[in-house]
Amino acid sequence: MSAAPISLIVNGTRHRFAGDPSMPLLWYLRDELALTGTKYGCGIAQCGACTVHVNGAPVRACQRRMQTLEGAAVTTIEGLHPDGAHPLQQAWRTVDVPQCGFCQAGQIMQAATLLARTRTPSDAEIDAAMTGHLCRCGTYPRIRAAIKAAAEQSR
Ligand code: FES
Ligand code: FES
Repeated sequence: MSAAPISLIVNGTRHRFAGDPSMPLLWYLRDELALTGTKYGCGIAQCGACTVHVNGAPVRACQRRMQTLEGAAVTTIEGLHPDGAHPLQQAWRTVDVPQCGFCQAGQIMQAATLLARTRTPSDAEIDAAMTGHLCRCGTYPRIRAAIKAAAEQSR
């Protein structure tokens, strides 16, 4: 007998998943829902490129199995704001943060949870929240500047 489908909400839309329950969420998002803004970097929870929100918390989608997501609400970079105008996305454009861009969706999703919890984070709080989110292009100073700009705009 096959297992019951997993019911979850992704970017506000309910989906049912009847495939391999051990499949990582990242595969589901990219390969089945075509939400390719979330990136595969390392596959071993070391880079942060695959970060999405699950019930409002940052999660590395390469490590999160579908079987743990019954009833969960998942938000990807595509769902952060309907028009791509979240304060962080606006600040990212103003500061011109990305270089190659590969890590940036994960960076923004992580930063979004920081700002949801701490409206005006200090440099130390930003560094603590963003540690473990790797950027091979070294955009860290611009990431910090954009987070501060977004915090300022949200006041
Ligand atoms: S791809 Fe998930 S942490 Fe690197
Ligand atoms: S912008 Fe290239 S890896 Fe971060």
